[in-house]
Amino acid sequence: MSTFRSDLLKGKTAFVSGASSGINLHIATRFALAGARVTIMSRSPEKIEAAAAGIRAGGGDAIGIAQDVRDHEGVGAALQKAVDEFGAFDILVSGAAGNFVAPFNKISYNGFRAVVDIDLIGTYNVLRQGFAHLRRPGASVINISAGQSFTPYPYQAHVNAAKAGVDMLTRTLAIEWGGLGVRVNSIVPGPIADTEGMARLAPDAETAAKTARRIPLGRFGTKDEIADLALFLSSPAASFITGTLAVRWSDQGAWIEILAMKMSR
Ligand code: NAP
Ligand code: COA
Repeated sequence: MSTFRSDLLKGKTAFVSGASSGINLHIATRFALAGARVTIMSRSPEKIEAAAAGIRAGGGDAIGIAQDVRDHEGVGAALQKAVDEFGAFDILVSGAAGNFVAPFNKISYNGFRAVVDIDLIGTYNVLRQGFAHLRRPGASVINISAGQSFTPYPYQAHVNAAKAGVDMLTRTLAIEWGGLGVRVNSIVPGPIADTEGMARLAPDAETAAKTARRIPLGRFGTKDEIADLALFLSSPAASFITGTLAVRWSDQGAWIEILAMKMSR
């Protein structure tokens, strides 16, 4: 159940990259249940079609497109297909990401590049190719970032670098596109329960419990809470909000300590 009224996005159109699972699928589903026509995109044809079918089964209007976010032209074609189906975007979310935990000296060129290409260049691709299709004025652009953007987590050099770039894009485009009536914000989810991201960063119960104890609210966030944040940022209630990094978890030291302990075992 959403906090917001069920027709909040009636008549609106949304595109969400990296939405075959996890946080981004929750966001896309929440948009659809609020009345938006939603296109979701990620690599695996089976996963993205199943995700879109799930949204439709819940009463939403959605299509899925299989496309690697690293392919600039391919992303352009996917966005065009979405526009042909549902019209120009009121909401554009760049959420595709990749992560693994490894010391910098063990991250190969391909490994570093894979994460930067998915997270940062992928965001460039979605926003650069998506700009022509944004409803102006009025569109809301959301980049899904991470605390790694502003906290230098060890064993996350590739993600730290990529997400810092994503948030700098958010701030830059908020200025460049503000005059056109397009708002650009980042969502920084913090540790979210039952996600692939946390399965990779806190794979055992002990690490997860230690992490949760360091969070001011004493628990992981939920995918529902992030989906409602995305809904808020896309609603008229957020019409003067741009260039923000929403939901910054402030306990910067905790992760460094926990990841360092994990890697030194
Ligand atoms: P997830 O379920 O693994 O979601 C990642 C999505 O990206 C999947 O749909 C995946 O689908 C897609 N993807 C990966 N590589 C892709 C590529 N090259 N091209 C297109 N799509 C691609 O992970 P999650 O934990 O929910 O994370 C979602 C977002 O939240 C990410 O941006 C992540 O950085 C951010 N975040 C998560 C947490 C957390 O606690 N989980 C915390 C902070 C930030 P395919 O594999 O089918 O391509
Ligand atoms: N430690 C060190 N290097 C790793 C690694 C790990 N745990 N996992 C992958 N790599 C390296 C690979 O060895 C490869 O480098 P190499 O060619 O020098 O051997 C490079 O990363 C690319 O791996 P590959 O599997 O070919 O890349 P991909 O493009 O298919 O996948 C990843 C991208 C690596 C990010 C993969 O984990 C992925 O698809 N993730 C999406 C889901 C996800 O991460 N969700 C959480 C989001 S926060």
